[in-house]
Amino acid sequence: MTEFATRLVHGPKQDQDFYGAVAVPIYKATTYAYPEIGQPVKYDYGRSGNPTRCALEDQLARLEGAAGAFAFSSGMAAIHAALALLKAGDYLIVGKQIYGGTFRLLRQFFGRWGLTVTAVDTRDLAAVEAAIRPNTRAIYFEPVTNPLLEVTPIAPLAKLAHRHGLLTIVDNTFLSPYLAQPLRWGADLVVHSATKYLAGHSELSAGVVAARTPALARRVYFIQNALGAGLSPEGANELARGLKTLALQLDRQLANLDAVRRFLASQPAVQRIYYPTKLAANPELRGGGGVLSLELADGAQALAFVNRLQLFTRAVSLGAVESLVELPSKMSHAELSPAEQEAAGIKPGLIRLAIGIEDEHDLVADLAQALDYCQASRKGA
Ligand SMILES: Cc1ncc(COP(=O)(O)O)c(C=O)c1O
Repeated sequence: MTEFATRLVHGPKQDQDFYGAVAVPIYKATTYAYPEIGQPVKYDYGRSGNPTRCALEDQLARLEGAAGAFAFSSGMAAIHAALALLKAGDYLIVGKQIYGGTFRLLRQFFGRWGLTVTAVDTRDLAAVEAAIRPNTRAIYFEPVTNPLLEVTPIAPLAKLAHRHGLLTIVDNTFLSPYLAQPLRWGADLVVHSATKYLAGHSELSAGVVAARTPALARRVYFIQNALGAGLSPEGANELARGLKTLALQLDRQLANLDAVRRFLASQPAVQRIYYPTKLAANPELRGGGGVLSLELADGAQALAFVNRLQLFTRAVSLGAVESLVELPSKMSHAELSPAEQEAAGIKPGLIRLAIGIEDEHDLVADLAQALDYCQASRKGA
C-alpha cells in the first residue's frame, strides 16, 4: 500500500479509465442507459450512484480504512445519515462538547422520533460506563473538541462500547484522516464536515460517513439513497480536488500554528492557550489540528483584539487556506445561554483561531499589532 499523501493524490483505480483523464470527470447525467434490460448495470440513477461521487467515495474509504464511505451535501446531512441507523426508543451517549448543530439535530429533530440522549465527558470512561442503560445503542463523540480542544482517546472508548455491544461514532472533522483514523482504533463509523479540512477552501459544503464493516456500509448506503442528500457531481469534483492537497495544507497549518502558539505563549497579555497536549505520547493523533483557542489576561479586551486583526478574517468555520478568528461566545456558540456557556467552560473572552496557510511571519505580526493596540488603549484608558 502506498503512503497516505500519495493516496490523497491517487484515488483507487476505477473500472473506467475515463479516456486517461488525470482527474475524474464530472458526470452530470442523472439517468443512465441499460444496454439491455435484464442485465445488471453499475449506474442507473444519479441519486443512487454517480461515477464522480463514487470515485471520491472509494478514495475516502481508503483514506479512513473503511469498508465504505459516502459523501453528502453537508456535514449535518452526513451526521443525520449516521444517526438514522438508530431507531425510536434507542438511547445515545454523546460527548459533552459536541458540535451545537449535532445537539440541535438530536434534541429538536431525532427527539421527536423517539431517540433520547445524554451528554457525558467522554474523557471519563467511568462516567461513560455509568451512563449506559439497557437501551443504549451508541456512543458519539469528537476526539478533539471545539472550542477548548480537549482530547478523548478513541481506542479505550471503542473498547468499552464494544464490550457493551454499542456502536462507536466519531466526528473526525477537527482532525481529518491525515491526523487521525478512528476506524483503525476500533470506531465503527466516522463522520466529517468535509466543508472544513477535506474541501479546504471555504467554498464547498459537504459531509462524509465512513463505515468500518461492509454490513454497516450497506446500511449507510441505504440511507444515502433513501434520503437523497448525496453530494452533487460538481461537489464531489471539488472535494476530490481539495483532498489532493490535504496533507500539504495541514502540514503548513500545523507549522503556522506552532509559530503562532510560540508567539502567544511568550506574551504576558495572553493568559491561557487551549490546544491538545501530550501529542507525542498519543499514538492515535498525528497532530492536534489547525485550531487553537486563547484567553487574554484582560478578558474584557477580547472584542477589541479580535476587531483589530487585519489578516485573520472574523468568521466561523475552520480548516481552510485562510486564517479565521471568532469569539465562540458571540458566534459559533452564541446559541448557548450565558449559564450554558459557563458550564461548558466558554468564557465571554475566549478567542478561537483557525490557522490557514499564509506566511507565519505575517500571522504573528497581525496578532502582535492587535496585542500592541490593546496594550496602548489600556494605558491610554
Ligand atoms: C465538528 C463539526 N461537525 C459537524 C459540523 C457540521 O458540518 P456542516 O456545516 O458541513 O453541515 C461542523 C460545522 O461547523 C463541525 O464543526
